[in-house]
Amino acid sequence: MFNPQKLKKDFPILSRKINGHPLIYLDNAATTQKPKTVIDAFKNYYENSAANVHRGIHTLSEESSEQYENARKKVAKFLNAKSPNEIIFTRNTTESINLVAYSWGETNIGKNDEIITSILEHHSNFIPWQQLCNKKNTKLKIIPLKKTTAPLSLDISALEKLITKKTHLIAITGMSNVTGEKPDLKKIVKLAHQNNTLVLIDAAQLAAHEQIDVQKLDADFIAFSAHKMLGPTGLGVLYAKEKLLQAMPPFLLGGGMIKEVTKTRTIFADIPQKFEAGTPNIAAAISFTKALDYLEKMDLNNIQKHTENLSRLLITRLKKYPQISLQTAENSNGIVSFTLKNIHPHDISEIFNKHGIAIRAGHHCCHPLMQDLKLAATARISFYLYNTEDDIEAVCKALNKVIEIFN
Ligand SMILES: Cc1ncc(COP(=O)(O)O)c(C=O)c1O
Repeated sequence: MFNPQKLKKDFPILSRKINGHPLIYLDNAATTQKPKTVIDAFKNYYENSAANVHRGIHTLSEESSEQYENARKKVAKFLNAKSPNEIIFTRNTTESINLVAYSWGETNIGKNDEIITSILEHHSNFIPWQQLCNKKNTKLKIIPLKKTTAPLSLDISALEKLITKKTHLIAITGMSNVTGEKPDLKKIVKLAHQNNTLVLIDAAQLAAHEQIDVQKLDADFIAFSAHKMLGPTGLGVLYAKEKLLQAMPPFLLGGGMIKEVTKTRTIFADIPQKFEAGTPNIAAAISFTKALDYLEKMDLNNIQKHTENLSRLLITRLKKYPQISLQTAENSNGIVSFTLKNIHPHDISEIFNKHGIAIRAGHHCCHPLMQDLKLAATARISFYLYNTEDDIEAVCKALNKVIEIFN
C-alpha cells in the first residue's frame, strides 16, 4: 500500500514542471501538497452542498452542518480524544495557540507566575507567551540549547531546574520546524503534571509525522494546522481537555457562539461552539477528513519511517561536503537545515528552483533560535510521504551546481 513513487500520482501538482524540470517539492514543513481526494471534497462542497452551518433549517444547511460536525468527530477519533467537544476548529496553529494565550492565559496568569517555553519555538508559540508575560509582569523562562554545537539539541535537563511552583504552563514544540528535533514529550508532560503545570504542545510539524494519541500523551492543549498534513489551508485544530475548555472564557465574540443575548448580557454556547465565533471554514473542515482518510490508509507509522530514513540519507550525504554546516537534530524526522560557507541560503534556494526543486531559505519564523545560532538564515529541506531517494540525488546535483557557481 505505501509506495512513495506510486502515490505521487494521487497529488496532481506533483506532475507540474518548474523551469522545465519536474517539480521536486521539498518545502513540506511550510505546507504539504494535497491529494486529489482532498481537492475534490473541497470542490464538491461548493458545487453541491454549500450553505452556512448551524443556522438554516433547509436541506443544504442541514447537510453542511452534519458534514462539518462529522469532521469534528473524525478529528477527535484520529487523535483518540475522549469527545468531539475537545476539538475546536480555528484558522491555523497560530490562532489555536493565541486562543489559549488570550482565553486561558489572560484568566490564569498573574503577576509573579511563570511560563516556560523553549528556544526552538516558532514565533507562533513564542510571541503569544512573551507578550502575555510582558503584559502580566510575569517571567518567561526559555529552555536553551545544549552547549554542544552538533548535532543541535534542546537541553531538556534544564527544565527540571526551570520549573517551580510558580510555573503555570510549559508551551513547547512537538517537532522543531528548523532542526527537526522532537523533544521527549512524555517526559515533559509527566514532569509538568507532577508540578501542577499545564502543557501546550505546538504540533504543527509533529501531527504530520507521528500518530498523536491525546489520551496517552496527556498534554492539556495541542495545536496544529490541516495544511501541513495534506489538508487545505485556513483550518487549524485546538485539542484541549474538556474541563479546561469549559472553564475558559470565549476568545472571539459574535455569531454562532451564544445561547442568548439581551441588551445587557450574553449567555455563551457550550463547547465547542463557545470557541467558534463567526462562519467557520466549512469546506476546509469537510475536505480535511479526506486528508485524514489518506493518512490513515498510508499509516503515519509508514510515513514516519520513510521520512526518518530520507533525513538520515540526506544528512549522510550532506556531511560529505566540508563547506556544509548542519543545523539539524540527531532524531530529525523529515527536516534538515543547513548552511553553506559564504553562500547565502537564498542563493541556494534560487539555484535549486532553477532545477525545479522547492526548498525553504530564511529564518523560518524562529528569530530567537537564529540569534542563538548566530545565523540570519538557513536552507531547509523538508520531506513528506511522496518524496523519494531520487529527490536526494537531485538535491546533491543541485548543491554541486551551487558550489560550482559560487567558487
Ligand atoms: C512548529 C510550527 N509552529 C507553528 C507554525 C505556524 O503554523 P500556521 O502558519 O499554520 O499557523 C508553524 C508553521 O510553519 C510551525 O512549523
